[in-house]
Amino acid sequence: EKDGFPFYMEKEMAEQPRVIARMLEEKTTEDLPDFSGEQVPDSLLTSCESVCIIACGSAMHAGLAGQFLMKKFLHIPVSVEMASEYMYTDPVVDEKTLVIAVSQSGETIDTLEALKYAKQKGAGSLAVINVKGSSIARESDAVLYTNAGPEIAVASTKAYTSQLALFALLVARMAYVRGDFTETETRDFVRELKRVPDAMEKVLAGKEKIHHIAGRIISAKDIFMIGRGLDYFIAMEGSLKLKEVSYIHSEAYASGELKHGPLALITEHTPVVAVATQKQLLSKEVSNIREVRSRGADVVLFAKEQLMPEEEEGYLTFELPDVRDEFMCLPAAAALQLLAYYVSSDKGYDVDKPRNLAKVVTVE
Ligand code: F6R
Repeated sequence: EKDGFPFYMEKEMAEQPRVIARMLEEKTTEDLPDFSGEQVPDSLLTSCESVCIIACGSAMHAGLAGQFLMKKFLHIPVSVEMASEYMYTDPVVDEKTLVIAVSQSGETIDTLEALKYAKQKGAGSLAVINVKGSSIARESDAVLYTNAGPEIAVASTKAYTSQLALFALLVARMAYVRGDFTETETRDFVRELKRVPDAMEKVLAGKEKIHHIAGRIISAKDIFMIGRGLDYFIAMEGSLKLKEVSYIHSEAYASGELKHGPLALITEHTPVVAVATQKQLLSKEVSNIREVRSRGADVVLFAKEQLMPEEEEGYLTFELPDVRDEFMCLPAAAALQLLAYYVSSDKGYDVDKPRNLAKVVTVE
């Protein structure tokens, strides 16, 4: 059932291009996002004045990327809330709020409770869920399924990237029905999104190179993953993945924040994984990389092909295939998943069952 792969995590990573391609076909008609099959009424998407995304762990990281796209294209306030903190922070939520609950299992109790709280305050609700008929799906006004198929490995891979792709499609539908995108702009956006599965396939084909890169961080005790904008959210997810399956302490940092404290921790013993996929932010990211290199850190850079700076000695790089900057998080996420996977399997760990963790979290 692992299709010849040694671990479910590797099998599930390999499935990603197919899962996402299928979802993009299922949820579009002539390259326009179409949720009529799942009966998501456009009124839910047009009537809100703000959006609040509620989730935990990897699903929350997908929400952060979703928030970035929503702010950029819908021009409305969008927040991302850690479900476990939500109810205790007096959130501003009413009937003008659309709450989006994101969950692979659909059973995470923190997310479910936060959703119920927001509904009580009158918010409209939409769930982004993988498991059919789950509690969160049943509790929401409407559901969009990621349809990634069963995810067995505790560490989320295909469920997370399918959430990223679904957020992109949701943003396109919202922008279209709210009048932020013309029909042509919406189709162009979706066509470009449909190039993502091929880009992810290329990353997977480069897995031996990533396996080699994993050798550079395998003996580290602490590492940093840095990026700006969308790349920061990808670093957060890459860092979570590395922590959970390889037991290496990894901290994700927004590159610009390094000098406000953590730079004090950078030495030749703390490798730094940098992500650079956003054209606008490249020159700043390159200077942050210089900052850590000059403190002795061994740097590994994952960058968009077109943006890859000239290689320097002793500095490992991995080129990510080009898609529109807003969608680079998908190939970048696949690359960092592979990195965590190889560190864990080369250490001889049970990749699919990290210690202390459960696939479904039903305690608060
Ligand atoms: C990390 C991971 C967890 C889950 C989190 C939420 O790899 O899998 O962080 O993302 O527990 O779970 P769901 O999505 O089922 O609500």
